[in-house]
Amino acid sequence: MIALERAVWPAGARLDESGVLSIGGIRAADLAGEFGTPVFVLDEQDFRARARLFRDAFESAFAEIGSSAEVYYAGKSFLCTAVARWVVEEGLRLDTCTGGELAVAARAGIDGPRLGLHGNNKSDAEIARAVDMRVGRIVLDSLAEVERVADAGAAAGRRVPVMVRVTTGVHAGGHEYISTAHEDQKFGLSIADGSAMTALRAVLARPELELLGVHTHIGSQIQDAAAFEVSARKLLALRAQLYAATGTLLPELDLGGGFGIAYTAEDSPVDITELARALADVVEQVSDELELAVPRISIEPGRAIAGPSTVTLYEVGVVKPVTVGEGEVRVRTYVSVDGGMSDNIRPALYGAEYTARLANRSSGKVKVRSRVVGKHCESGDIVIPDIDLPADVAPGDLLAVPATGAYGRSMASNYNLVARPPVVAVKDGAARVIVRRETEDDLLATDVG
Ligand code: LLP
Repeated sequence: MIALERAVWPAGARLDESGVLSIGGIRAADLAGEFGTPVFVLDEQDFRARARLFRDAFESAFAEIGSSAEVYYAGKSFLCTAVARWVVEEGLRLDTCTGGELAVAARAGIDGPRLGLHGNNKSDAEIARAVDMRVGRIVLDSLAEVERVADAGAAAGRRVPVMVRVTTGVHAGGHEYISTAHEDQKFGLSIADGSAMTALRAVLARPELELLGVHTHIGSQIQDAAAFEVSARKLLALRAQLYAATGTLLPELDLGGGFGIAYTAEDSPVDITELARALADVVEQVSDELELAVPRISIEPGRAIAGPSTVTLYEVGVVKPVTVGEGEVRVRTYVSVDGGMSDNIRPALYGAEYTARLANRSSGKVKVRSRVVGKHCESGDIVIPDIDLPADVAPGDLLAVPATGAYGRSMASNYNLVARPPVVAVKDGAARVIVRRETEDDLLATDVG
């Protein structure tokens, strides 16, 4: 019997002797039977354990150099009120980037000071709401925003804690990081062209703003610790430069998110405990060289907490062998599932790779070249372009796709007026709907005729 590739599946995923998949102690077929398909099955203990791992790794690594670290869970990867509460219960904070995400945090009862707000184009309403909620920090993304947030603080009669988002020239993710590139993007203020320094000075000139530090986010799905070290050096150098120019020593640096995960067996994500230690070493060493006190650090992981916790269960529908020409060689078998690009846009949008396995039974049949496709009216609606699946996969079987917790449900759409799937949290043999399935009434709710 083939075992699960541990790195790709949540900690609570198991195969029994007959090859049946269970998650959090509940069999896939039982989950599908109770909640329908497609369904996002979220292993709560896995999610919480990854949140704790980040907090513990960074807290202890930075405590060792006489500093501290905070972890902000990036809500954009997946957010609902239950998850917002879990992250706070695990000692993390919550990073938001829109009024909608702030609304979820508010509904979950999260204290404003535990929140951060990002966004390259925050509306006045979003800024006012964040100020009103007393969020722990607003991350300023442009020079214009310095004045707008300061004005909002003045209007509310309150000092607003802020960071300035900068671009360091380091861009990472996917394959490699290329320093000196990627300043040509919409986020942040460039260190190289001086606009970061201009913004920092502008913040210092507004008494309504409390400057906590600088922030950078270098990319996504990064599997290379060196990229984070290079970006930490750049922020430390900027901090020293601001100190030399103004006498202000920034208390905090935020290194953003982007920590990679295993989507398939090919991926090799960085070890978070080792990464935290390596970063603490760099921060200590560079601060010593610059003769400055070590700063506090914060980070914003999303994918690395939410991603591996969740498995999508689909039901197989049409199975179609496709041959080319008359009676010619079989090219592959198209296995259609009952979701697709509306619940996972990442393959179509980024060419993201996933794996899948039969979840309701095992099969001794030989494997055949297959393509897992969705139900949408679009030929690019592909979940997995090339995968070997048992030759007897048939309508009614369940397919499980792991590592769909980040940017799956959060980027889901109603394309073709397909209702978005529920998220079901499983733990110790119990399942609980934390986001319900949409209904036809939901789909029609905004159609005013
Ligand atoms: N902090 C900031 C400022 C960010 O912009 C992001 C992601 C994060 C934190 C969290 O990054 P993570 O640890 O989750 O990689 N939709 C894309 C990912 C877009 C990420 C945008 N920003 C995907 O599905 O791969």
